[in-house]
Formats: sequence, structure tokens, C-alpha cells
Amino acid sequence: MTTAPLDHQTVPTHWTHRHLLDLERLTPTEVRTLLDTATLFKEATGGCRRKLGVLAGKTIVTLFFENSTRTKTSFALAARRLGADVVDFSASSSSLSKGESFIDTAKNLEAMGIDAVVVRHVTPGTPHLLAQHLDVGVINAGDGPHEHPTQGLLDIFTIRERLGDLSGATVGLVGDIAHSRTARSNLWGLMKLGAKVILCGPPTLVSDRWRELGVEVSHDLDAIVPRCDVLNLLRIQFERQNTRPFPSVREYAHLYAMTRDRLKRAKKDLLILAPGPINRGVEVTAEVADCPQSLILGQVANGLAVRMAVLWLTCGPRAGADGPSPGTKVY
Ligand code: NCD
Repeated sequence: MTTAPLDHQTVPTHWTHRHLLDLERLTPTEVRTLLDTATLFKEATGGCRRKLGVLAGKTIVTLFFENSTRTKTSFALAARRLGADVVDFSASSSSLSKGESFIDTAKNLEAMGIDAVVVRHVTPGTPHLLAQHLDVGVINAGDGPHEHPTQGLLDIFTIRERLGDLSGATVGLVGDIAHSRTARSNLWGLMKLGAKVILCGPPTLVSDRWRELGVEVSHDLDAIVPRCDVLNLLRIQFERQNTRPFPSVREYAHLYAMTRDRLKRAKKDLLILAPGPINRGVEVTAEVADCPQSLILGQVANGLAVRMAVLWLTCGPRAGADGPSPGTKVY
């Protein structure tokens, strides 16, 4: 493990936050700062493979009250790659089951001298509530259907790596917009960087009221495919739905799955993204998920760089202060 500076790389601009709760309230400059910092960490760690010691002595707790494959592992690996200790809090075997309140539990963890909490919870606003009660950094790893800022950032990071500037790019977010936190974080981040966003899905999952934000709404995937530079294919969030929003999964797939036939009518260099887990045959066919234009596993790899950046900015040496000024070394 090395503790050397990142080859004299510098943090590109300032950062003033102790927490990362959502993308909605970040400025475009702050979104760019996060992405630029992720680029620095990706380069300095040889594609997120090598270790740096920039968070040595820090302790990060992962507090997940919902299932996770990618996000929890990615945060834990990102923290370890930066030299931090990681503790995984297991909700089912904790004193929450003995009636201790959520805030009391979190305050007890804080009392042990931790530096940041990465929280995922079924209730929207849980990370925001924690941030009001804790002095340590709070990072939102998904709060119900509300936001999933690091997923939004890693999706945008992956697009930016391919396209460079996002302004003028047309990005279709397809699927369960009503229940997708990934859709919301993508929407805010993409709009701040000047992309044109099209939300697409059945009317029961994509309300026309989204137009009030200045985005386009479409219920016809075939109509939008030829116009898009990027398609981000979102999973149907069955676990968040009280009633079935379409007659059958088969009908949904017929109308909204990204298939080889639809790919033929797309721009040649269309980028295909999906946050995962993917349901092959529902939002995307296996052929498209595995085709050369698919960046699905690249997104997962980039998640490490984005989470290194988020951890460094929220619990690094200048976290919550004025942030590193231009020219500050990243260590
Ligand atoms: C997303 C999530 O959990 O919100 N997945 C993820 O974090 N990689 C999307 C989803 O579950 O569909």
C-alpha cells in the first residue's frame, strides 16, 4: 500500500459538504467536482486496483436495511482501497430488534469513533434524518424510491468517460421511473450537466407531470430509441409496488425491453447502461445486455472510483470544511 500523493494530482475545485444525501441539491460544479475526483482516483489506483493510504485511520460503517450486492461491496472495497477500516452493521442481529430506536443505534455507533456512515433504508429521507442527528459524514446508498446518488454519479461518470461533455447528449431513462431512486439521481445529475433527458415507460410508471421539470416524457420506446445517445434501462421495482402497473411482464417486455431489433434502429454508437440487478428478458434481452455497446459491467467497475471520491470528499482531511482549494494535493 502506498501513501504517496496521487502523482501530484490535485482536486479540481472546492467541496463544502460533510454528507452526500442526494444529487438534487448539489450544484453543477459540485457534481463535476465529484466526477473529476473519481477520475483522479481511478487513474491514481491503476483503474481502482491499487491501494492508497489516504483514509488510513478512518472507520466507515455500512448500515444497510435493504438488500444489496453491488453497492455495499463497492463501498467496502472503495474504503479499503483508500486504507480505511470498514465495519458492516447487521440490522437483523442488532439491538434494533430489542426495541432500540434507529437514532439511538446510530448515535451508539458514532460514540465508538467512526468517521462516516453509508446508509441504505426503505424509507425516503432516512439519510437526511441521520445527518441531522450525527456529526459524522452520512452517505446515502439508496433511500427507498427517493435517491441513490452514487449510482447516479457512476452512471454519469461512465457516460462521461465515453462521450466527454454531456451537454447536448440525449439520455433515455427507461422503465419504472415512479419507483426508481436510480432514475431520480440520474435525472438530477444529467440535467445539471446539460444533458437532454427522456423518461420512457408505461403511463402508470412515468407520469406526464415530470414534464414540469423540463424533461421529455415518452410512452413509446420505439419512437425514442433512434434519437438517444444513451439508454439507461431500469429494473421494474416490483418490491415497491402495491398494485401491478401493467397487465403482464410479457407485455411490458414486448413494449419496453431493449432488444436486438430495437438496437438495429438505434444510433450505431448508442451506449447501453443498466444499474443492475438486471432481469434478462424484462428490461433488456440477454443479447443486448452482453453486446459490445453494453457498459453494464464497466459501470460496476467505475462505482469503485466514484465511491472512493465520495468517501474522500466526505471524510478526508478537509471534509465539511471549505474543502480542498484548487491546488490541494489529494492526500
Ligand atoms: C439499484 C438500487 O438498489 O436502487 N441497484 C443498485 O444499487 N445497483 C437499482 C435496482 O435495484 O434496480
